[in-house]
Amino acid sequence: MLQAWYIDTQNGECLEQKKMAPKYISAEELYNKTGVEYFKLNVETYKTDGILDSIKKERGYSYEDEMVCSEKCLSIDEFEEKKRSFATEHLHSDEEIRFLLEGAGYFDVRDSVDHWIRIKICAGDLIILPGGIYHRFEFDSNKHIKMKRLFSEEPAWQAYNRPADAMPCRQRYMERIARGFAAAN
Ligand code: LAC
Ligand code: NI
Repeated sequence: MLQAWYIDTQNGECLEQKKMAPKYISAEELYNKTGVEYFKLNVETYKTDGILDSIKKERGYSYEDEMVCSEKCLSIDEFEEKKRSFATEHLHSDEEIRFLLEGAGYFDVRDSVDHWIRIKICAGDLIILPGGIYHRFEFDSNKHIKMKRLFSEEPAWQAYNRPADAMPCRQRYMERIARGFAAAN
């Protein structure tokens, strides 16, 4: 099940740190507010149960690779560098599609009025961030993730740190937000 909630970053602090009950939102609310899509898959059976295959087919994801990002398999400097770049608010021109195979972490995405929504992801979660959405990623305390990255054609991983408001992908995203994701895209 999706675990997503608003984080109050007013003083650089989030609700969890203040030990207040988070305001959870459903997958539908998340989609309506941000265009982010969420699927729950089974890491034991995904190779044969056809669900990942049908998502790939429907959405035209022809590229895929696997990435392990862990304190254990990278040098301290490499890991810290990755952690820093993931945690820096950025966007991409295309969708960011991640299927988590091991570990856990948090994707933070901005809603249309710039509030942060935190999405916890763990093994079996597949998340699709639309092109042009500002986001960041944080490891949990285990500092280990193994994920499948999918892409519709030739991958373009380039991250553009905020501010990137003039980029065409950002403008397109803002138009989609204005029209409403639940309506026809
Ligand atoms: C990325 C994620 C972590 O761009 O946002 O790889
Ligand atoms: Ni990203």
